[in-house]
Amino acid sequence: MSEWWKDAVFYHIYPRSFMDSNGDGVGDLAGITSRLGYLKWLGADAIWLSPVYRSPMADFGYDISDFYDIDPLFGTMEDFDRLLAETHRLGMKLVMDQILHTTSSRHLWFVESSSSRTNPKADWYIWKDPAPDGGRPNNWISFFSGKEPDPAWKWVPERGQYYLHMFNSEQCDLNLRNPEVRAELEKVLRFWLDKGVDGFRLDSVCVYFKDPKFRDFPVRSTAYAASSFSALSKYFVDHVLERPENLLALERIRELLDEYAPERVAIGESASEKGIQSYLEFSSPGRLHLAFNFEFLNTVCLDAAKTASVVSRTDSLFDSRAWPCYVLGHHDGERLLSRVNRDRAVPDAAAAKLMAALLLTIRGTPFIYYGEELGMTDTPIPFDRIVDPFGKAVWPAPGRDVCRTPMQWDDGPAAGFTAGEPWLPVNENRNTVNVRGEAADDSSVLAWYRRVIAVRRERSALRRGRQEILSSSDNVLVIRRSFEHDTVLSVLNFANDSRTVRLEGGSTVLAGTHRSSGEHLETQVRLAPLEALVLG
Ligand code: BGC
Ligand code: MG
Repeated sequence: MSEWWKDAVFYHIYPRSFMDSNGDGVGDLAGITSRLGYLKWLGADAIWLSPVYRSPMADFGYDISDFYDIDPLFGTMEDFDRLLAETHRLGMKLVMDQILHTTSSRHLWFVESSSSRTNPKADWYIWKDPAPDGGRPNNWISFFSGKEPDPAWKWVPERGQYYLHMFNSEQCDLNLRNPEVRAELEKVLRFWLDKGVDGFRLDSVCVYFKDPKFRDFPVRSTAYAASSFSALSKYFVDHVLERPENLLALERIRELLDEYAPERVAIGESASEKGIQSYLEFSSPGRLHLAFNFEFLNTVCLDAAKTASVVSRTDSLFDSRAWPCYVLGHHDGERLLSRVNRDRAVPDAAAAKLMAALLLTIRGTPFIYYGEELGMTDTPIPFDRIVDPFGKAVWPAPGRDVCRTPMQWDDGPAAGFTAGEPWLPVNENRNTVNVRGEAADDSSVLAWYRRVIAVRRERSALRRGRQEILSSSDNVLVIRRSFEHDTVLSVLNFANDSRTVRLEGGSTVLAGTHRSSGEHLETQVRLAPLEALVLG
């Protein structure tokens, strides 16, 4: 078995924002296809596309109204087929997002389900009678609640009942306890697998099933005071959701994927606050291949000891039981640099390179969020330009639009993303943070990503090797990876001062932020502030 997903460098594309081919200001499939050469040049092995299915876009595609079609905003099924064929021709893989816990309220299943209490799909969603006092069935609120609680139930007069929506009210929770629903969703998976997609990123796997008793939140005040996505999810997960049935559903999905050759992959996404323990549960043998480890989003700043703790806790829990999978950023929260370098204490480019070296040299599959390889940062967005309902609800907290702004291809007014008016503002730092400029500059963040990815491709130790943390003291992280006779050291100086490290036996620079490849180092090495070295 190839287990290609262990070796692969994944690249996450948010399709609305990657490349617009038709001047409507929104990225599309033809745009992505036109930039596959860039991804190949960068060294990506696999692409994960956020949803491109037909959708009213209440949650920008995470609200699907037809699982079997492409939204016209993104193009046609022919455009998709072309993208898939071209990705494969270039030797890369394509993984689709798949949302199995909700559909759009405009999906025909929901239209039918909400029409009466007796229609054939009456039980396809989670419908409840009013509480004895005539109010909502319980006190659950939506994950998208901001400062104000947004009840997770919406009334439908035709049925005289409420339906459950854990996210927007346009995203109706499917009743996965109904075997007909599960069978229908399996058909969806097969449709895309038969087309030849290389797998799925599965949305919100920790909320597939709900408490069968629909018990109230025990502590109202905590949830109602929560203003952030993660604080809320902790509340839900601890008290209401994260059902053991979820794991059975994941096992079934794995069985289905295993029927296919060549090997297809499933990557689970969950905001579970059980953290590493839950990533392990989701990706244990017989379940998903990978589950995103979000620890670097939540806990880590530029700090060797904290970083080492995430890596070693993950390794000791996962051991040989599951394969880790790390992200530094995604479409649901602030970008890497806007988190770890919030007060701009160090140059953005130096922080970006250091974190890239971490992501690409630790044991586990790396995911790069589009633009991260350039050092893109969050784009400040005035309230009247926010489009994400969650962003409006949590204002003045940053929300999610800030990390979804157009890919910066060049320094033009629309950053080379569109000939029209971009759907979200373009970051002013496109003048310096952009593909065209960075591709021509050997010292850029982009050039660094490309170099370290190339080293990763050459060295089996970096892809599959065991991992030992040799040191994390003095804010310098030294990690040894070894596979058979191959050994590679990753030396990351998180300090903004110089540091001296002792490296037994001397070594050769494979990639260095401050040194040329091929340079030989003696035992005693004086590191520059924020220097990153990959040695072999
Ligand atoms: C996705 C979000 C989406 C939500 C609801 C998530 O975890 O990543 O972008 O809004 O699921 O589908
Ligand atoms: Mg377009």
